Amino acid sequence: MILDGKKISQERLSHLREAIGASGLSPSLATVIVGDDPASAMYVRMKHRACGEVGIRSIGVELPATVTTAEVLSHIDRLNRDRSINAILVQLPLPAHIDTAQVIESVDPQKDVDGFHPGNMGRLFLGRPVFSPCTPLGIMTLLSAYDVEPEGMHAVVVGRSIDVGRPMAALLLNAHATVTICHSRTRDLPSIARTADILVAAVGKPRFIGPPMVKQGAVVIDVGTNRINGVLCGDVDFDRVKDIAGAITPVPGGVGPMTIASLMENTFLAARMQGCTGAE
Ligand code: GUN
Repeated sequence: MILDGKKISQERLSHLREAIGASGLSPSLATVIVGDDPASAMYVRMKHRACGEVGIRSIGVELPATVTTAEVLSHIDRLNRDRSINAILVQLPLPAHIDTAQVIESVDPQKDVDGFHPGNMGRLFLGRPVFSPCTPLGIMTLLSAYDVEPEGMHAVVVGRSIDVGRPMAALLLNAHATVTICHSRTRDLPSIARTADILVAAVGKPRFIGPPMVKQGAVVIDVGTNRINGVLCGDVDFDRVKDIAGAITPVPGGVGPMTIASLMENTFLAARMQGCTGAE
């Protein structure tokens, strides 16, 4: 079975459009992008386009690669104080000279729709999430749309990044899975991966997950967005794994669109929590 993220995301977005219309709220998202990385610029453009589709007002703050940490912080401070902005997303990665941790911690936790602020990440690990990071949240939504119930399953997350691996493990744990996190220093990763009922690949290595790492019938989630000669390619060797897996996400058209749907849902949640009418 193919887990069709594009289709489920479109369903979620059209439902969200109606919910926003009926709410009387006028949610707004500000994105902050530093530098001119083409992939980051494309992701931010897609986020703005999705905002337009569901009725979220969006503004983009574009800063040159030469900007200092202090300058980024001052833009975020302004957005934090602006009551007409409900949600703030700082596109990562930031250039190496910027203190990313400080930037993440400067975002008002109530506007932190990425869920990367330590307060939001802490709540997630305590099992009391408010904003969960969009990619893992989108994966949980996708699993649920296909009636995959993680309770009691062995979920193996390959990768320990702050945007995917760690929050993914927390969400699966909150959903009562037995969770193992593997990473680059894990010994004999294949022998662990092939015990997974749910296998989430977020390693950033093209076609890293091959048939020896996949149990017959496993649910395989591919978070990879690698580019080989300009062509998007996942972390899973899709062609060789698809007949072993019970269900699998394609790349593109799997996890990516779900990430955007989650961002829109988190932005609407931020607006509802702030009780914003957009009247200011
Ligand atoms: N870069 C890669 N993934 C993400 C994400 O989920 N949020 C942000 N802000 N930047 C990213």
